[in-house]
Amino acid sequence: MYKAVLLDTIRAAGQVLLEGIGENFQISHKSSLNDLVTEVDKRSEAVILDKIRNQFPDHAILSEEAGASEHSGTFRWIIDPLDGTVNFAHRLPICSVSIALEKEGEVLMGAVYNPFLNELFFAEKGHGAYLNDKPIRVSAQDQIRQAFLVTGFPYQWRDMPHDPVQVFGYFIKQGVPVRRLGSAAIDLCWVACGRFDGYWEHHIHAWDVAAGGLIVREAGGQVTDFEGQPYQLSSSKLIASNGRIHEGLLHAVQTA
Ligand code: IPD
Ligand code: CA
Ligand code: CA
Ligand code: CA
Repeated sequence: MYKAVLLDTIRAAGQVLLEGIGENFQISHKSSLNDLVTEVDKRSEAVILDKIRNQFPDHAILSEEAGASEHSGTFRWIIDPLDGTVNFAHRLPICSVSIALEKEGEVLMGAVYNPFLNELFFAEKGHGAYLNDKPIRVSAQDQIRQAFLVTGFPYQWRDMPHDPVQVFGYFIKQGVPVRRLGSAAIDLCWVACGRFDGYWEHHIHAWDVAAGGLIVREAGGQVTDFEGQPYQLSSSKLIASNGRIHEGLLHAVQTA
């Protein structure tokens, strides 16, 4: 029941992104000049909220643009209606929709959909992770010096512990390839299916990673904060990996 609604909803939202990218949509700024939101983010969100409220009127919702619903409940939907807005605003088709269902603090299921690649990632706690219905696993790489990594940077610079540029530089100086794709949800799913070996980011929100984090864990990977503790939705720092190079990533963020 939850799964069917989740998949139907995320496909409908993906269709909004597919149709919207060729249009002349409006773009506005949020906290800074390059922290953007487009009309399409809001259109996607409206489709998602409508479907979820319709099916589950007593469930709580946390969605990036609309914020948190007033009522609390046992179940909460955590939604990023368009992850990768800066890419989308520049018509770069590395963007996704991310939706997770949480029950009493635990993510039960999550999906991430990139409609431009027609890639739908899904996981349910205890039941594995899937890409377009095929099971996925994290990579087997166990050498951090040979790892293929991905990260993200905040839109607004602030002094923060574990300076993101230092951590990035730590790997680059060793010749380790690091990418910055611009959609945290896709970064996580690409760790889950073994394309990347690890990912870290200093300033993320629950809606960026709630679904992707579960997908990584269900694909056999590890998801922690920068102290190595299991990642909690309230944390703004996240490391995800295939598990084998996790210590190497932790070492980098703690010492760089
Ligand atoms: C952003 C993307 C980006 C990450 C930022 C997020 P948005 O989400 O996931 O990759 O580096 O931290 O805010 O704003 O495009 O939904
Ligand atoms: Ca945003
Ligand atoms: Ca996001
Ligand atoms: Ca977003």
